[in-house]
Formats: sequence, structure tokens, C-alpha cells
Amino acid sequence: MTLPAIPEPGPSPKAIVAEGFARECVAWLDSSDDLAAVDEVRLRLEALDKYLSRRSTPSPEVATAARIGEVRVGELLGPGVEGRPAEETAMFIAVSDRNDRAQFRLMAAWRAVVEKVLAGETDDGKPKYSRNQILKAIHREQLKQRGREADTDKVRLIVGDVLDVAEQLGPESVDVIVTDPPYKKEFLPAYSSLSEAARIVLKPDGLCVVMCGQSWLPEVYRRLGERLDYFWTFAYRTPGQAPAQLRGGINSQWKPLLVYAKGVPGPNDWPVSDVVTSSGNEKDEHDWQQSAGGMRDILRRLTFEGQLVWDPFCGGGSTPLAALQTSRPCVASDIDPEQVDITRGRILAYVDSANR
Ligand SMILES: C[S@@+](CC[C@H](N)C(=O)[O-])C[C@H]1O[C@@H](n2cnc3c(N)ncnc32)[C@H](O)[C@@H]1O
Repeated sequence: MTLPAIPEPGPSPKAIVAEGFARECVAWLDSSDDLAAVDEVRLRLEALDKYLSRRSTPSPEVATAARIGEVRVGELLGPGVEGRPAEETAMFIAVSDRNDRAQFRLMAAWRAVVEKVLAGETDDGKPKYSRNQILKAIHREQLKQRGREADTDKVRLIVGDVLDVAEQLGPESVDVIVTDPPYKKEFLPAYSSLSEAARIVLKPDGLCVVMCGQSWLPEVYRRLGERLDYFWTFAYRTPGQAPAQLRGGINSQWKPLLVYAKGVPGPNDWPVSDVVTSSGNEKDEHDWQQSAGGMRDILRRLTFEGQLVWDPFCGGGSTPLAALQTSRPCVASDIDPEQVDITRGRILAYVDSANR
């Protein structure tokens, strides 16, 4: 069977030519069981995808077809394909990249997730086309599934709005809140809820440590101050992260870490340095995730071993993971049940790897 050929640059706009090629490839990929030929088509698609992206004319159709090619290679490599000669697989394994093969098999096993992500069924409703973004979505789905199937006694996990969970936890039940609410304007009321919740659950002199963005900072200070006392502002440096484009094109490379207290904070090992540095860019479990290393540093500076920590906006679970790693008991909650499942799955995976 003749392989689809990469189109020659012609008079039509690049994207139109490329879309026709992508359609031809997808039909071809679905109808072929020839592993080497399928991989060749995948490579042609990948080359065209890179070419178009470098020239700032990316084509979603070409990127989608390249991902389908990867899934198809994974399907042909994986178990369950009958009638395929074993030497063909052996030959392919000898010449292909081990990492690619593992990723393609994974994508084949989670084809439904790949298709959902390509179709834009994501948290932000936007399709994602890169292999990395698709692998991230599969990773989250795996954790979610794991978190639904098993429980953990390492962290207490609750689904719910910050104030509802505070009522469940009860008065003066928590030593320190360490959290990272959403930063967008529409979430500002959550900072008032957090202030109220902290007033309820914190023990006298307990701390409420809140990471936030710069855009609505005066309003965040005002709302947190409704029921708590301001103590300090730390700088949380975020090197290695794509700088967030804030107002006027400002490239932000740090975040405010606001420390409030219920009353006057009790003895700690003050003074501590008020500049904390994130340990890296980690977004595998949540698009707005903080690094577990950064959260460990915050916990070590601002809490004692054995103190009960609550993260009421736990997202992908970096705070509860860091708490577990630094011997602080932790309650983690989130309004989104899927994020709580992901957090549970992440804790279970960490405990497994630590026991290995
Ligand atoms: C910035 S993310 C937290 C990311 C987390 N620090 C991590 O490292 O993965 C904020 C989280 O707050 C949750 N959230 C938003 N409104 C909430 C509310 N009223 N109560 C509880 N959780 C809420 C969202 O579902 C989201 O997962």
C-alpha cells in the first residue's frame, strides 16, 4: 500500500495542504497493520507538525493525526494484535526509542483519554495537541482511577467548599492552614470564606499561610483580614516556570505568600528568612499546581513536626504530599471531587514508591 506523501509546498496556504495530508494519513493509519509503515507515516506527521509549528502556522489536524499515529504504533506493538509476525515487532524494537515505545503503548491503552483531550474535553475546554499534554492527562486519569478504587489512612481527604469543610472539622481543630486558592478575579469571594473558615478551625495563635497571585492583591489582603490578623508577606520565588504574563506584560517570577494569624502567633523559630524558592515547575497533577519541594520548604519553615495542617484548596495534592513527607498530619479538601481522587491516587502512589 502506498504511504501518504508529505505535500510539496505549493500555491495553496500551507495549512490547507497540511489538513488534506492529515486526513489522508488518519484514514491510512486506521486501515494498516504494518508496524514499520505506520511508524513511517507517524514520523512524517511529526516532521510536518514540527515544521508548521516552527513557522508559526501550527495545524491542529496535523498534530491530531500525529498523536493518532502514536496511538496506532502503540496498538500494533501492544498485546492482542493477532496475525502480526513477531520478527516485525522485534525489528521495530531494535530500531526505535524505548521511551517512545512505552509512551505509545500507554497512549494505546488510554485511547479514550487521548481522544477526549484532542477533542477539547479538558478542564479549560481547550483541546491539547502535544504528546506531553496527553501523557499528563493520562497520568491524571490513572491517579483518579487509583484514588477511586482504594483509600489511604495517611491523609484525611474531604470533598467540599472551604467553609463547609471547616464546619465539619470543628472549632480549634487545626494548627496551621497552608493553601493556594485560585487566583482569578471570580474566585476572590473564596478568600473571605477562607478567612471565616480559618477563624473557626484554627487553634488560638494558629497560622493561615496563603499563596496568591499579584493581580488582585489589595482585595486578597482585605478579604483575608476580615476575620484574621495580618502577620507577614513572604516571597515565593518560582524560577524555571514560564513567567506568568500579568498586567502590562510584566513577567512575574514570584508569588506573594501571605501569613495571617488568629491572634498573635506563638513561639516559632522566628526569625526565618522570608524568601522561599520553589523546587521546580510541576504541573502533572493540576494545571495550577505548586511543587511538592516548595511546599515542604514552607511547611518546614512555618510549622512544627506533628502539627495538624489543613489545605482547603488542595488541587493536585502537593501540600498533603509535602506534609506526609515532613511528618505533619494533614487534612486536604477541595470542592472538585476529581481533584480529591487525584490527590488520593497521588498519595497512594507515593506510599507505594516509598515502600519499594
Ligand atoms: C490553585 S488550585 C490548588 C493547586 C494545589 N496547590 C496544587 O499544588 O495542586 C485551587 C483549587 O481550589 C479549588 N477550589 C476552588 N474553589 C473552592 C472552594 N470554594 N472551596 C474549596 N476548593 C475550591 C479548585 O477546585 C482547585 O483545585
